[in-house]
Amino acid sequence: MSRYGVGLRTEHYGEWLAGAAPRIDFVEAITENFATRRGRPWAVLEAVRRHVPLVFHGVSLSLGGADPIDRAYVRAIATLADRFEPLWISDHLCASTAHTHHAHDLWPLPRTRALVRHVAQRIGEVQDLLGRRILVENISSYVQYARDEMSAAEFVAAVVDDADCDLLLDVNNVVVDAYNHGFDPHEFLRAMPARRVRQLHLAGHDDCGTHLFDDHRGPIPDTTWSLFETAVSLFGEVPALVEWDKHTPSLGVVATEANTARERAAAVLEGRRAAS
Ligand SMILES: [Fe+2]
Repeated sequence: MSRYGVGLRTEHYGEWLAGAAPRIDFVEAITENFATRRGRPWAVLEAVRRHVPLVFHGVSLSLGGADPIDRAYVRAIATLADRFEPLWISDHLCASTAHTHHAHDLWPLPRTRALVRHVAQRIGEVQDLLGRRILVENISSYVQYARDEMSAAEFVAAVVDDADCDLLLDVNNVVVDAYNHGFDPHEFLRAMPARRVRQLHLAGHDDCGTHLFDDHRGPIPDTTWSLFETAVSLFGEVPALVEWDKHTPSLGVVATEANTARERAAAVLEGRRAAS
């Protein structure tokens, strides 16, 4: 059975606390909002956890950065995981700190073989500390480096293979990156190691004319749905989650979008069965 989920957002805390859970299979919580806090955030998590399983999704491990891995922070994630038993834990394939300063942004990495080894070693360090595999997510970006040695797809595939971790494939990030950097998004998906694709992200973006901007607006646009259907045809029914962060509507509306993903995936798989 696959799963369809929504992100846990502060706009929905009241609905969760009131027990107004929609039909949804899992909820993704931003790790940083809970790893070092207790109080109301944990009360919300407990309310959610009563209804559905959780996954934790981080933004600050800086897996591609130059600062040492923050081992105390990883231990805080382990404590959180012991308490809430998430299905899995993820973070991003990027750098997000410099000289221990948190950028609150996801910086793209130079796509070199040296960086592949560097990131894979750091992912390994995190996995060893947590005692479990993590998922890493492909980010969207607006720059590339003159020293890039590999395509975006080659870099992502090489890192997850070298690190022996799993992949959180953000379909919208592929749409945005493909437009901004001029590659074929379907070719990108075909280059991903299918056995490592453990979760999909779905979101919307802003068309700024010269580039696409990944602002997680909703509803999900046709280009992202189309690539999602390609992902389902390639990887089967992988758990998928809707990220809706701009003008976030009620929990029910976001859940309806997640259930649209469920219906679209079912139609793709049904079509595949009928054709075989
Ligand atoms: Fe994402």
